[in-house]
Amino acid sequence: MHLIKLSAAAALATTLALSMAMSGEAHAQAAAGPVKVGFMLPYTGTYASLGNMIEAGFKLYVQEQGGKLGGREIQYFKVDDESEPSKATDNVNKLIKRDQVDVLVGTVHSGVALGMAKAAKESNTLMIVPNAGADAITGPLCSPNIVRSSFSNWQPGYSTGVVVAQKGHKRAMTITWNYAAGSETVKGFTEAFEKAGGKVVKDLNLPFPNVEFQALLTEIAAQKPDAVFAFFAGGGAVKFVKDYAAAGLNKTIPLYGSGFLTDGTLEAQGAAAQGLQTTLHYADNLDTPRNNAFRKSFALAYKANADVYAVQGYDAAQILAAGLTAVKGDLTKREALTTAMHKTTVDSPRGKFTLSAAGNPVQDMYLREAKGPNNEFKSIAVKALADPARGCKL
Ligand code: BEZ
Repeated sequence: MHLIKLSAAAALATTLALSMAMSGEAHAQAAAGPVKVGFMLPYTGTYASLGNMIEAGFKLYVQEQGGKLGGREIQYFKVDDESEPSKATDNVNKLIKRDQVDVLVGTVHSGVALGMAKAAKESNTLMIVPNAGADAITGPLCSPNIVRSSFSNWQPGYSTGVVVAQKGHKRAMTITWNYAAGSETVKGFTEAFEKAGGKVVKDLNLPFPNVEFQALLTEIAAQKPDAVFAFFAGGGAVKFVKDYAAAGLNKTIPLYGSGFLTDGTLEAQGAAAQGLQTTLHYADNLDTPRNNAFRKSFALAYKANADVYAVQGYDAAQILAAGLTAVKGDLTKREALTTAMHKTTVDSPRGKFTLSAAGNPVQDMYLREAKGPNNEFKSIAVKALADPARGCKL
């Protein structure tokens, strides 16, 4: 009797302790409130449409999960970074210090992203890069709290260099904006093209976001290379492709580019872009159940066609979901959270991909051709291309 009494008391104590622990956990969850996501993206200027597509893609994935990731509601904060590197530190601190976000999602412009990454590293804030390719982010600036859902600038440059050499071109010129994305993409192109026996005879550039291309187009016409490689994106890409055709160069010197040259821009570029071949980690018409479902869902939600930027935003949310799910929404379990983010296999509309140790996608690069409103898949240019992560020490 005495024993039974004791064990009953013990059972009661255990039940009480358990229910207290559970209600404590529930209270902690409630007290924690929503996970705060801070979008730092360009909402004005030449990259505005890219920023909007990234945000749309991210929110679409969250909506598809019923508005929660890892059991937590998501609350959004926004800063327009204007693609202006000189304002990057002030802007990112609005999210880190003023809004005290849990996760930074940004940005598009490599120069701005470098400022963000430094602030994220110093403050140990989680950061997911949904576009900017700055090589240093998954190179010398690599950090367990920073991952990318997009690409490094080297990747699409390199894969286009492979393709242009395979087509038999020997002398190429390059043209781009004079900032990290332009120079690093051109470097990747040159590395692959020259390794395969080609020669880059001249690099042309102009300051970002200038679109006064005339003098440079005149120089291309005078040099008569076998091919031209260009990195431009957004509004600048629209103007460049139209100017290239208006100068008649599309009839004599084939133009290639990393896929940003024609992604999200085809409608505005009209006939001037038709037939252009580019390489990128996405093609609109990838005929897989995953891509078809994504494009349908995006079109239904936004009455617009998805592009690569929407895919990168969507996948940024998938990477965050992997981390939050692993820790059941408990952001204090930081190491388990970031490990799960790094180890996830992302079931992307582009095809499944993993992240390198440096946090950059290891992914297939596609050769695409602009046809009507789509960048259509032609072939795999380079399979499972991993950025070399030069200078990354973890
Ligand atoms: C960049 O600055 O990294 C970038 C901008 C637009 C498209 C691709 C890359």
